[in-house]
Amino acid sequence: LTVIRGDSTVLRDLRREDLRRYRWWWEEEIEWQKWDAPWETETRGDAAESLRKLQRVLDEGDLPAPRRRLEIETGSGRHVGWVGRYWVDSAAAGWWEVGINLPERSARGCGLGTEALALWVDYLFSELDIVRLGMGTWSGNHAMRRVADKLGFTAEARFRRARPVRGCLYDALRWGMLRDQWRTLRAGWPGVSATPGAGCDPTEGRT
Ligand SMILES: CC(C)(COP(=O)(O)OP(=O)(O)OC[C@H]1O[C@@H](n2cnc3c(N)ncnc32)[C@H](O)[C@@H]1OP(=O)(O)O)[C@@H](O)C(=O)NCCC(=O)NCCS
Repeated sequence: LTVIRGDSTVLRDLRREDLRRYRWWWEEEIEWQKWDAPWETETRGDAAESLRKLQRVLDEGDLPAPRRRLEIETGSGRHVGWVGRYWVDSAAAGWWEVGINLPERSARGCGLGTEALALWVDYLFSELDIVRLGMGTWSGNHAMRRVADKLGFTAEARFRRARPVRGCLYDALRWGMLRDQWRTLRAGWPGVSATPGAGCDPTEGRT
């Protein structure tokens, strides 16, 4: 099992008991979908399919190293969201973007997202032989824009009026961070250990 400890968050692998909460986040507490790619109304996929995918991850038990996603817990063990990474272009080996969601509204706005993303980016640069990591959002998502800013991501692209959201056209925004930038910036990030990779225990919990 992979566990990455920060100051106020922990990133860890999916557990079977998380599925009930995922069902809640997909069927009831769906407000996060207004912020995470809200233009994907047709393509997001339904709750049942998303839950089946998570179920398969648990059943196969063969998690990729390094991980493609981890769950976010608060320091007191409350499961509040997840981080992931996605190919931008699978033909260009190593071109990844990161994403984050805190469906639990009460967990937002107190620094957890910034720390969780810092831990995730730190882990990925430590574990993957990559030159860059990207992330993206739309201009109406001020919390995500602020997180990118706080971690020191470089604004790389603005596609003007490309994202239709609830009747308005917003800009698509993309950021990137290079390995050298990460090495310099990580010292100022919340929760990350002084030595890259030291906060991650890939064997913790293994029986
Ligand atoms: C985006 C998200 C992951 C950020 O996590 P978080 O824990 O809320 O973020 P933090 O508290 O670390 O930082 C958010 C910052 O945005 C600021 N912010 C939040 N809403 C804002 C708004 N409407 N206008 C301006 N700033 C805003 C906060 O004040 C904070 O900045 P500060 O530390 O300078 O005060 C989380 O809010 C979330 O999951 N939202 C819903 C789903 C989503 O948007 N997912 C991302 C899709 S790209």
